[in-house]
Amino acid sequence: MTTMAVRGGRPLEGTVAVRGAKNLVSKAMVAALLGRTPSRLRNVPDVSDVGIVSSLLTLHGVTVRPGDERGEIVMDPAGVERADVADINAHAGSSRVPILLCGPLLHRLGRAFIPDLGGCRIGDRPIDFHLDALRGFGAVVDKEPDGLHITAPTGLKGMKLSLPYPSVGATEQTLLTAVCAEGVTELSNAAVEPEIMDLIAILQKMGAIIEVHTDRVIRVTGVPALSGYTHRALPDRIEAASWACAALATGGHVTVDGARQADMMTFLNVFRRVGGEFAVADSGITFWHPGGQLSSIALETHVHPGFMTDWQQPLAVALTQASGLSILHETVYENRFGFAGALTSMGATIQLYRECLGGLPCRFGQRNFVHSAVLSGPSKLYAADLEIPDLRGGFSYLIAALAAQGTSTVRGIDIIKRGYENFESKLAGLGADVS
Ligand code: EPZ
Repeated sequence: MTTMAVRGGRPLEGTVAVRGAKNLVSKAMVAALLGRTPSRLRNVPDVSDVGIVSSLLTLHGVTVRPGDERGEIVMDPAGVERADVADINAHAGSSRVPILLCGPLLHRLGRAFIPDLGGCRIGDRPIDFHLDALRGFGAVVDKEPDGLHITAPTGLKGMKLSLPYPSVGATEQTLLTAVCAEGVTELSNAAVEPEIMDLIAILQKMGAIIEVHTDRVIRVTGVPALSGYTHRALPDRIEAASWACAALATGGHVTVDGARQADMMTFLNVFRRVGGEFAVADSGITFWHPGGQLSSIALETHVHPGFMTDWQQPLAVALTQASGLSILHETVYENRFGFAGALTSMGATIQLYRECLGGLPCRFGQRNFVHSAVLSGPSKLYAADLEIPDLRGGFSYLIAALAAQGTSTVRGIDIIKRGYENFESKLAGLGADVS
């Protein structure tokens, strides 16, 4: 387990660059499987989730190599082949992306395999929507002890599907399968996150026909074949917001090169309501704490265009420094306050509730899920010995340690490498005292 010592109490000052969004890049790499010619993806961050998807593609006969510019990869799917189930299981352990290979593999090989899925422990994270979608296209799912074996004995056909919840992954699953299915697919209650729009842009470059309507309806007209693409991944708005929250919590001033206002409107509104300031430039966004007291807020996470669940944890650390009561209602995952205990041990005052503390319709109320929080601040934070629970919670621990008085020990920082490129050197570049 890798450990970082963080001597807190210094404002973060300086510039960091964010590159492509992990949550688009991994899906864009899967899309390359659908092309008859090589695909070229730019702005790819050096994070471990990208390495996992590279290995999975390689196992399936795709050649993955660096391109001409830094952060460019070229994927050649000419030799797509079946992979050994044991190998898939060995490589996929810590990612949820393998499930998205199903549609492309069914189109290319007529069969696919889903291992026991990993990903962050932030709730049950079922895959029922994915399986319902695949079955809707005509796939047959067999549960075996080693995982799910999926075939398409009569091919994949377009269909009508309404998702019970606008799931990002299930929307991507449907898109990646519908583009080459026979006929038209109409998906209602789809997720419309910027990363999904970027995936749609990629698929359109490949030759797909996809219409996005204003009411969460996406219509896809299947085509017989797709070609490769060249694309620059949209910037990582989760990483950008994480650095913004780190600037706010430490009383600092951080320019995030590459951050894009259009993808972060909802975050920026909240940042301003809390009392943070920002300035938008062509090349990125600068975030800072203007001095004085921060304001408490009531906030609910939601699917896009709402406030992202992945922004909630870093912001919660900054809210420990706001004066008054802040109320958080998490409506996307049932178990995303696992980090609250550690913050409390550092001096924060946080009460967790099973009730919905907000007005958004939520699937977790009255079901015993602890999914609301009340933070009372400002609280002085003190160093602690912390063990990272999940990716976003982990980065939040780092922010808390940076804001705290004394030297914290943060264990398990490898999890952070799943989604934050070179974060150790970025922290050092911002003047953080870490080793
Ligand atoms: C994606 O996860 C992201 N991961 C998550 O980021 C992100 O938090 C999430 O979308 C929401 O924005 C990747 O893109 C790799 P969902 P995904 O399907 O697609 C329930 C990070 O830290 N659900 O939109 O798995 C599910 O349990 C990660 O970067 C079902 O019930 O999320 C959750 O409550 C964490 N059945 C809700 O829907 C299903 O079959 C939303 O999940 C699928 C989902």
